[in-house]
Amino acid sequence: MSYEAETVFEENEDPTVADGLHRMIYLSTAERDPGHDELRNLYDLARRNNERDGITGLTAYHDYSYIQVLEGPRHKVEACFERIKDNAMHHNFFVVSAEDVEERIFDSYSMAFVPLAEDMPEAQQNFLDLRELKESPKMQQAEADSVVANFIEAFIDSIRGL
Ligand SMILES: Cc1cc2nc3c(=O)[nH]c(=O)nc-3n(C[C@H](O)[C@H](O)[C@H](O)COP(=O)(O)O)c2cc1C
Repeated sequence: MSYEAETVFEENEDPTVADGLHRMIYLSTAERDPGHDELRNLYDLARRNNERDGITGLTAYHDYSYIQVLEGPRHKVEACFERIKDNAMHHNFFVVSAEDVEERIFDSYSMAFVPLAEDMPEAQQNFLDLRELKESPKMQQAEADSVVANFIEAFIDSIRGL
């Protein structure tokens, strides 16, 4: 399994422009606490699909809560969200915002959660340790949009003892 960084969309060759760029932010409640293997498998699947669909963003998980930012061609983002809602791993969806935007703020798709100690060597650029997210380059990208940045920070700050 590889957690290398992958496709980076340069603004001038971004394939999304024709379809309209869309950004969606939601949170959901986990059906059960997913194991780390389950989260890794989810990350691999989502990353593969999202690369194919030109979707970038971030999923973070902690203590029965997921948050996710998806950005990409509007129809791809909407189709992705339909598949996400169909997934029995979570329920209780709350869409924080869904809007057409001018630019992406994330250059790739990544996932953050608190890894087990033995997972640490594998935690790389696109597979992030939630405890380090605030200081990471991903957060600098998120800060390009105050709604996204505030939302992610609020999620991190809501976690006691992180
Ligand atoms: C919290 C959460 C986030 C997910 N994020 C994505 C995602 O960003 N992209 C994606 O394709 N699937 C995502 N999924 C998985 C989808 O629900 C679904 O299982 C997957 O898209 C089906 O892929 P397939 O048609 O290639 O089998 C997510 C699932 C969960 C529970």
